[in-house]
Amino acid sequence: MNNYTHIFHGTAFSSEFPKKVTILKDYLFFIDTNGMIKKMIGPEQAEYPALLETYEGQANFHRLAEGQYFLPGFVDLHVHAPQWAQSGTALDIPLYDWLHTYTFPLEAKYADLSFASSVYEDLVSTLLANGTTTVLYFATVHKEASLLLAKICAEKGQRGLVGKVVMDDPEQNPSYYRDADTKTALADTESFILAVKELAKEAKQGVYPVVTPRFIPSCSDEALKGLGELAAKYDTHIQSHCSESDWAHGYVKERLGKHDAFALHDFGLLGDKSVMAHCNFLDDNDAALFAETGTAISHCPLSNAYFANSVLPLKRFQSMGIDIGLGTDISAGATPSLYDNAKQAVVSSRMLEDGVNQALPAEERGVPDSRISIHEAFYLATAGGGESLSLPIGRLQENYTWDVQIIDTKAPTAKLPIFSEAEDLDDIFQKILYLVRPDNISEVWVQGEKVHSRS
Ligand code: GUN
Ligand code: FE
Repeated sequence: MNNYTHIFHGTAFSSEFPKKVTILKDYLFFIDTNGMIKKMIGPEQAEYPALLETYEGQANFHRLAEGQYFLPGFVDLHVHAPQWAQSGTALDIPLYDWLHTYTFPLEAKYADLSFASSVYEDLVSTLLANGTTTVLYFATVHKEASLLLAKICAEKGQRGLVGKVVMDDPEQNPSYYRDADTKTALADTESFILAVKELAKEAKQGVYPVVTPRFIPSCSDEALKGLGELAAKYDTHIQSHCSESDWAHGYVKERLGKHDAFALHDFGLLGDKSVMAHCNFLDDNDAALFAETGTAISHCPLSNAYFANSVLPLKRFQSMGIDIGLGTDISAGATPSLYDNAKQAVVSSRMLEDGVNQALPAEERGVPDSRISIHEAFYLATAGGGESLSLPIGRLQENYTWDVQIIDTKAPTAKLPIFSEAEDLDDIFQKILYLVRPDNISEVWVQGEKVHSRS
């Protein structure tokens, strides 16, 4: 045997920077006992033939079959785990009504741990089967059910960053679904953080507590301030919604006299480990504050089309230096697939650039330099997500985690249209991004462990 837990051989695609997908043809990947990529050797390197000869045939050597490829596992920066139970429904009403008539009544049901368990087990397995290896989750206000979600991630081998949601304002939240009071909201958050940190000791891939004010409208000033202090005390990640819609943006401006970006900053809720969902309505000052504090954006293009009635000016914010990754925003986005969201990110960006009002002359319709390619969308789903979370994930690179999805382009029930073995690898990459379904994802690995096999 050898010093590695696994050695993989095959062709991989990985993002270097937004516009550059690196093709690693016939590479060897050496995985250490911590599940990290210790070494990568390609055919152009002198030691390659000897290494291949040495390791091939050993019990822990895995060679991809013809038509199979490695992609980094996807990083989903925005999932409301409880909302999985209503995914695909009620996508045609305004955000405020959707929250009060559908979402809060559903989330209230997670006081029941057996209901929570059935939904969360199914969701975590479904996300893994869709190639998603790391997820930043909102749970509910319930401390126990939120902890259960973290436990299910730990057991199934997914890297879960989980927040107990805080909604303490009695004026803004319904009596059947909110924290008992501000003090309880903060005390529950603190004991949740400690419990997840304890759980993390047993989870090789990492599970992390996340400080999670739902959004400013649902929280009192005192809770927001207390949450900022807890995040600093325990050095946790932070997540919330920021400037999602005209309604949310306007509400904060009226209550606090400033934009939510500055309000969140004043409460100690922006920083390197902060990820804010949506952010469609940030102005240039808000965006500059995000860049300066290292705060990332989770871009949820499908959800934005349904509930925010807007498109994130992604290229503008990226050029200002903000880290951006992709989120499904289950269930405001109905799909568990980041492939679907990567495709939508491309479509939305094209519509932003070209504009849609034919009554205007072509040159006045859109916002120039807004479009992204599928390669850039892939960056958002992988390396961009890793950078947003400040974790060594989302790239096939030395000293990054072995989090991969093995794509089978010849899956019997989902064959991709590849008719020549000599087809250009960048063309194959694009076909994968546009056409993959869960049937094509034959295996998923997280931190060097196999966590999903297509049945
Ligand atoms: N704003 C506050 N809560 C939510 C939510 O659950 N989904 C979305 N899309 N926006 C929100
Ligand atoms: Fe959301």
